[in-house]
Amino acid sequence: MKHIDAAAHTRGESQYVDDLPQPAEMLYAAVFSSDVAHGKILKLDTAKAGTIDGVVMVLTAADLPGENQIGPIIQDETLLAVDAVHYVGEPVALVVATSPEVAHKAVKNISVKIKELRPVTDPREAFAKGQIIGTPRTFHLGDVDNTWAQCDLIMEGRCDISGQEHVYLETQRARAVPLEGGGMRIHSSTQSPAAVQRAAAKILGLPNNKIEVDVKRIGGGFGGKEDQATAWSCLAALAAWHTGKPVELVLSRHDDIKMTGKRHPYSSDFKIGVTKDGKILAYEVKHYQNSGATADLSTAVLERTLFHSTNSYFVPNVKIFAACCRTNLPPNTAFRGFGGPQGMFVIESAIAKATEKLGMPREEMQYKNLLQEGDMLPYGQRTADTRSRITWDEADKAFNIAAIHKRIDSYNEAHFEIKKGFAVMPICFGISFTNTMLNQASSLVHVYTDGSVGITTGGVEMGQGLITNIAAIAAKALGIRPERIKIESTNTTRVANMSASAASATTDLNGHATLLAIGQILERLKSLLVHEQHLSHAEKITIVDEQVLYDGQPTGWDWPKLVQKAYTSRVALSAHGYYATPGIWFDRTKEKGHPFAYHVFGTAIIEVTVDCLRGTYDINSVKIVHDLGRPINELVDRGQIEGGLAQGLGWMTLEELKFDDTGHYLSNSLATYKLPDVYFMPDLLEVKLLENVDNPRGPYGTKAVGEPPLMYGIGAFFAIRHAMRAFRPKADFPFHSPLTPEKVLMQLHAEVLDNLKDGKLEKKTKRRRDVLAIKAVVLFKQKIENG
Ligand code: MTE
Ligand code: MOS
Repeated sequence: MKHIDAAAHTRGESQYVDDLPQPAEMLYAAVFSSDVAHGKILKLDTAKAGTIDGVVMVLTAADLPGENQIGPIIQDETLLAVDAVHYVGEPVALVVATSPEVAHKAVKNISVKIKELRPVTDPREAFAKGQIIGTPRTFHLGDVDNTWAQCDLIMEGRCDISGQEHVYLETQRARAVPLEGGGMRIHSSTQSPAAVQRAAAKILGLPNNKIEVDVKRIGGGFGGKEDQATAWSCLAALAAWHTGKPVELVLSRHDDIKMTGKRHPYSSDFKIGVTKDGKILAYEVKHYQNSGATADLSTAVLERTLFHSTNSYFVPNVKIFAACCRTNLPPNTAFRGFGGPQGMFVIESAIAKATEKLGMPREEMQYKNLLQEGDMLPYGQRTADTRSRITWDEADKAFNIAAIHKRIDSYNEAHFEIKKGFAVMPICFGISFTNTMLNQASSLVHVYTDGSVGITTGGVEMGQGLITNIAAIAAKALGIRPERIKIESTNTTRVANMSASAASATTDLNGHATLLAIGQILERLKSLLVHEQHLSHAEKITIVDEQVLYDGQPTGWDWPKLVQKAYTSRVALSAHGYYATPGIWFDRTKEKGHPFAYHVFGTAIIEVTVDCLRGTYDINSVKIVHDLGRPINELVDRGQIEGGLAQGLGWMTLEELKFDDTGHYLSNSLATYKLPDVYFMPDLLEVKLLENVDNPRGPYGTKAVGEPPLMYGIGAFFAIRHAMRAFRPKADFPFHSPLTPEKVLMQLHAEVLDNLKDGKLEKKTKRRRDVLAIKAVVLFKQKIENG
């Protein structure tokens, strides 16, 4: 079964927020935001903007009828700034006008006088100053401090991990439509309709039931609309409340990049202790998360960093410290992997550093320390159905890791300026929201008299294939054709209090809830049939290909006939299912528990070629063995694996999110922020799925897939590093991501660059490597000078 939306997407027929027919008298809003990262507002002047022809009103914090507060976990975020600004792009005022053009023109006529304060952009500096959000947390396992003495080798290092822009195709947007009785319907591009509902109710001073949030689908979220869709929806609602007219607010790409938070940059210190044969005995890490100006979801993201800091490895002695550091950047937020990737990158760096010192292949240490069944994770959960080694062994069997290494070594011996490298990247990702409370979902199922079915869940379709999965699950449970099933928009009046569509758990949670709703309807239909046909065992009734069977034999009834009979017999054809993931808990006072329903495992092998003269590289191949359990829809899931991988590769290599000391993003458009494209993707991408593996926790044995494959991309960093070290075997390259071609070039030729600085370049060298390096640097300088 193809993604349900595939054809309509391709034809451009799928509707997003601003594709809905425009209501008469609709108005358009535009946001005036701070251009200063940190300062006190002395004077805000909106008078001139207000006089522009077509401007209906200009709203500021003073115009909020309710509370000026939209923080999702910690109440530290205003909708519109009051007195002070904390990041470039912070919304200060809202123009409402008769056209988007007029609204944007008016924004340019607003002025604000700000007394500038020095912004902080470095998380370590923020930490030193005590600018910490929530409380720092520490996970412990074993006894790290008393283990160092037993280690043959201890290595320490630092990682600086860059953020990542979401680049969802559909930028942030919302349309608010006033309803009778003072209510509001909000069409929002959000992953979290209930969060929008609550925040809009709060800022308008209304009860939740006056706000209806409707989401047909969103044009990608990737975590960027888990919380950060809320502000724009609230602003549209505020304008609609004041004007009594429908109001639409659409961020331009430029404003979206400027005003919204991104994946959190991290700066981390690691210390790893190993034996000389490669066993990891102790691992200590300190993570300084660059949280941005407000909490947003940072504390939850930090929690997942803590959970995934040992990735797919068993380490008997562990200490993980992590803190959310408040800086003057836009509030950083959820992004596919949710803090997990940063945690994993650091331990992969530690392993690289230790093996480079030992002269051991990195994959040897990785393999020696892979999780085995029943191993204790630092947060107190023992691994079950552990597939770390299984996926690695499968990958080894299919692709022969030792042979790859040998092939690369001999290539590198034979080639001078072109080097190859590879890395194996195992992953282990916990499934469930780490906040246990959020692991609940509801589904509303209606069977209509013609046998067609309408389903509303709390899940949002964002391209990941949720509706295709839910339709497949429902069709299977009912025994009917998927074409009979329509998945409705996600709407807070039909399904209440949904959690965000996030944590990769949307199909799991909403699929289970749908199964529970369908179970109720089937039970009623079966007892009806038992009664009608004088049968004795309801459990012997099944529906297969729309035929109703008893004990496997035809009954002469089919689905439409059964439904029709139920209707005329006054049997309810609707049901509401509610699911809460069983068996999960976490005690934050002890930092121990069983937070995850299960884990997703997999292993990737990434091969690259680096041009050491130019710093450029190609990703030659990515070979993956992945654990999907029993996929509901293999095609959709393969799409998730490829898409996740692309984002992971981009994060590690090309996507450089640069900001300066004044808190302005330098890479603030798609011209300066380089995304991986189809040509950047590996020439060969092979994805093997573990076969005949079950997952008792997922609907029909499936496993969540949304986020884990992103983390395969981390391997690209270490593959490139491997190639770089073939060129400069003794160099101790930094663990700073992304490893852009520019950085590769600079790092490979750092010595030469140093000489260049001191004017010592004339001290001519005969070493061929350095002659090439000088050429490379000159070439690079020319390139920069030519723009
Ligand atoms: N795939 C597409 N096409 N678009 C998206 O926005 N978001 C990712 C992932 N895959 C996303 C996506 C993220 S961050 C998550 S958490 C999951 O999908 C959410 O959906 P799921 O829970 O159904 O996997
Ligand atoms: Mo995904 S980062 O959990 O929205």
